[in-house]
Amino acid sequence: MNIFTFKTEEDFVQTGANLIASLVQSKSNAILGLATGSSPIGIYTRLAEMNKKGLVSFSQVSAYNLDEYVGISGDHSQSYKTFMKENLFNHIDIDLQNTHIPNTNAADLDAECKAYDLALEQNGPVDIQILGIGSNGHIGFNEPDDHLYGGTHVIDLLEETLEANARFFDSLDEVPKQAITMGVASIMKARQILFIARGASKAEAVKAALQGPITTQCPASLLQCHPNVIVLLDEEAGSLL
Ligand code: GLP
Repeated sequence: MNIFTFKTEEDFVQTGANLIASLVQSKSNAILGLATGSSPIGIYTRLAEMNKKGLVSFSQVSAYNLDEYVGISGDHSQSYKTFMKENLFNHIDIDLQNTHIPNTNAADLDAECKAYDLALEQNGPVDIQILGIGSNGHIGFNEPDDHLYGGTHVIDLLEETLEANARFFDSLDEVPKQAITMGVASIMKARQILFIARGASKAEAVKAALQGPITTQCPASLLQCHPNVIVLLDEEAGSLL
């Protein structure tokens, strides 16, 4: 595991963007695993700038997102579909047909989960998976528990996750209580994982993930079993290492 801690946001963002851009430059039909949350936004903005300057093209790239809320429509302002369009897809030359986010408006959510896994299996593996961490150690929306699921599944979000994400909604009551998330096995199948965390609120979770015991109570700790993880942190998130 290669761990890099950055003093400036600029260095964090440029390093993350360079890693993804150089992959796409050498493999034009790369498969990207994408994440939402505040941590990757700067990297997405930089990739869009690089795309506009002609430094990298996403025209042949496919993308699979980690997760999506259940109970809000895809065009809701806080859906992850909207997030990805606003923060990345609308600003790069990717073909929207090649972008994939679990469809939580499907009539049969279990069938949707199976179809998502099948698509990942047939088209994958993901070349690089961008992965944030929840302050409780979740990855995607795989919450700490006695057991974790390998494949894509519907999950009940924990109270602490609802509270952490309430800042994006008008009230706590409006935060969706369920999501579809890729499971830990699906995440671990990526050839490379770009694990990113920013801010003091992530310091404990980052320490548990990278240096604690491997346990389902900290889903991110499973990354210690992955052969190719690059960790990008700001000084606050890396302060306890
Ligand atoms: C949500 C997403 C996670 C993400 C987390 C971190 O919970 N489902 O995949 O890692 O947010 O968000 P942030 O980057 O804003 O701290």
